[in-house]
Amino acid sequence: MNRHIILIGYMGSGKTSVGQILSEKLGLPLLDTDAMIVEERGMSVNDIFASRGEAFFRLLESELLERIAGMEEPVVLSTGGGLPMTPQNREPLRNLGMVVYLQAEPEEILRRLEHDDTRPLLAQGDRGEKIRSMLDIRGPVYRETAAHTVRTDGKTCAQIADEIIKLYRMEDDSHESIGY
Ligand code: S3P
Repeated sequence: MNRHIILIGYMGSGKTSVGQILSEKLGLPLLDTDAMIVEERGMSVNDIFASRGEAFFRLLESELLERIAGMEEPVVLSTGGGLPMTPQNREPLRNLGMVVYLQAEPEEILRRLEHDDTRPLLAQGDRGEKIRSMLDIRGPVYRETAAHTVRTDGKTCAQIADEIIKLYRMEDDSHESIGY
């Protein structure tokens, strides 16, 4: 039996949008770590970073992940882009179920986030440069954490969701008991 579907990847790679479609198509609840933290703290991500610092936000992410691990019913989980970068989060993420890395090219990410002002890590410096250098470090970690890497460029969110559903059903079949 499959458990949760976990979407990881860089900011702007489509985790939330694809998560919404997956949740509708599979009839599973959607959880979004950023949205949960914002709701629980009553503050935006920008404000948490500004008033308490990034390290505090990372602690909130790890603590939330622990609580999600205790959930029985399968969910679609959309994660903040930095969550797998905390080393102690990687194993718990994998243990939750099928981890999928939504891979987007830096040019596409820049296009999507060009006018975004909700990501504190992109607030300063040359945005394109920042995205490329962060992806150089994060890309291998995302790939190594995920069971599947799905390329997103040139695809609609619905197409990406369909690809993930196929993978989910395949994994589910492969875990079925052979019966002897
Ligand atoms: C972050 C990604 C953001 C949010 C925070 C930090 C990151 O989430 O958690 O701004 O370190 O990549 P999204 O990936 O949903 O934008």
